[in-house]
Amino acid sequence: MCGIIGFAGKTDAKSVLLDGLERLEYRGYDSAGIAVVSSKGELQVEKSKGRLAVLRELVAADKSVSGNVGIGHTRWATHGEPNDVNAHPHVGEAGKIAVVHNGIIENYLEIKNSLIRKGVTFQSDTDTEVIVQLLEYYYKKYDDIMDAVYKVLSRIKGAYAMGILCSDYPEQMIAARKDAPLLIGYGDESNYIASDVTALLAYTRMVTYMEDDEVAVITAKSVQIYDSDRNILNMEQHTVDWDIAAAEKGGYTHFMLKEIMEQPEAVKKTISPRLENGQIVMEELSKVPDLMQNITRIYIVACGSAYHVGMIGKYVIEKLLHIPVEACLASEFRYSEPVLGEKSLVIVISQSGETLDSMAALREAKRKGSKVLSIVNVMGSSIARESDIVLYTWAGPEIAVATTKAYSTQMVLLIMLGVYFAKQQGLIEEQEYQKVIDSLLELPEQMTEVLKNLDTYQKIASRYFNHNSIFFIGRNLDYALGLEGSLKLKEISYIHSESYAAGELKHGTISLIEPGTLVVALATYAPLVEKSLSNIVEVQSRGAEVIALVTQETAATIKERVPEIFAVPQTHPILQPMLGMIPLQLFAYYVALNRGCDIDKPRNLAKSVTVE
Ligand code: G6P
Repeated sequence: MCGIIGFAGKTDAKSVLLDGLERLEYRGYDSAGIAVVSSKGELQVEKSKGRLAVLRELVAADKSVSGNVGIGHTRWATHGEPNDVNAHPHVGEAGKIAVVHNGIIENYLEIKNSLIRKGVTFQSDTDTEVIVQLLEYYYKKYDDIMDAVYKVLSRIKGAYAMGILCSDYPEQMIAARKDAPLLIGYGDESNYIASDVTALLAYTRMVTYMEDDEVAVITAKSVQIYDSDRNILNMEQHTVDWDIAAAEKGGYTHFMLKEIMEQPEAVKKTISPRLENGQIVMEELSKVPDLMQNITRIYIVACGSAYHVGMIGKYVIEKLLHIPVEACLASEFRYSEPVLGEKSLVIVISQSGETLDSMAALREAKRKGSKVLSIVNVMGSSIARESDIVLYTWAGPEIAVATTKAYSTQMVLLIMLGVYFAKQQGLIEEQEYQKVIDSLLELPEQMTEVLKNLDTYQKIASRYFNHNSIFFIGRNLDYALGLEGSLKLKEISYIHSESYAAGELKHGTISLIEPGTLVVALATYAPLVEKSLSNIVEVQSRGAEVIALVTQETAATIKERVPEIFAVPQTHPILQPMLGMIPLQLFAYYVALNRGCDIDKPRNLAKSVTVE
């Protein structure tokens, strides 16, 4: 949520800041701003409501914004509406210090009131402004910026990743982190801070992920990291192997379309290193070889689309391991007093590895003595670092807010994990196991085949994009997949949509079906196809228009009854959603395109949600 970039170098900071913000816009895009400090120690700020393009124009028009050290921010509003004043950076009353901040300062009102009593005048409605006003207050008192920073950090409560400039220290920026991602990048005669590695890919691959309670002082030539007691720390540097091209559109109109098309490759990259000689190998699990020995229950905890992967996992893993598997929304899980202990395994799924609710659930699970295995896409992210075991998806950077390739790689990896455990415990017959392996090997090619039918998805979407309410129905894995199909549509097209277990429809929701209602009926899960087909008839008899998602085998049978069909090849039933999801993603994409929506940056959303 919100993006931070910072630069200390020998060249003008603003182009790096604006470029970095462009790459971070998916983290929030209701306002943006930069602050630079000139060599003469002048602090200049430009910020504005709206997309980055507005800021670019402002900066281009204001030639005075110039300096070799600077910080920038793109915002997803929490405290205070998106407007020019609430945009970051915030500057203190004396005009000496500027701050950009991600996270939430929980005790901001208390600090704000105490500063107001001391005569400080606040400009904005944000929680962030208390940081900068408090910094200036202590800076005046101690006359040392680091003393002021440490004093402020001891007073604020909540989550923060922040970048700080002080005009009396024109060569440096200061960074601090607690419960919000922040990393340092090392360049040639330049160093950087960023909330997200994609902002730095054009400049460097060498990074240090800051830990909680650390503070860093960064100049063009040096980086020094301190712990909470101001001891100097050794920096662990990591090389990022993401390619800059993967974070660019490369000729596609939208990142979402590019990322949908990249799925066969991403899935292959996720599967291949884990398949050896016809066996699933999970080297990561060797860290805890007896992981499953006493496990009697599994919780899969996640948010958004990652939770929908959890739903798929629930059906697949429960069936394979014969133990209860619950898929839980992280935001509910953490406050629901889940029964956890040594006998529970908690699987956390998160593309970003930074989602605050998922992180909190992870900590709760560990506190109660459960082992945590995470499925994460971003290396070195907080969830990855705090888990007992991490399985990385190799989806590469995902930029579109609506996830696609991260979702599919998470799904395939979770299914593989279930099958791996089943094999390890002798719960899957060899023949069945081999069928899954063969299907996994075939999967990327089948996905490519499904992606060839863009015309069909486009044509069907252009017929139905005017509907203002759409239902998704399905059973078992189709139900879990429908949840994601419906979410994709909601996220990017703003059409109201609901996903129902097809068998539950008759217990209430069927009353909403009237002539012309659009129902996307999923009937790909082989063991329940017949029952799903009956549900199609049920809604058709009430006048619904139906688009059916079926396998090519079923397509012929229902063609007469249902004129609009998304047909996908058949695979092993537990992998079937891997193919079914593609038409649903593309249906949502083309519906949104027809409606003229801002597909990569849907309203009100942000890709990485680091607030509660
Ligand atoms: C946001 C995104 C979703 C994503 C969810 C969880 O809501 O818009 O696409 O599924 O966060 O994110 P994570 O990074 O934890 O997978």
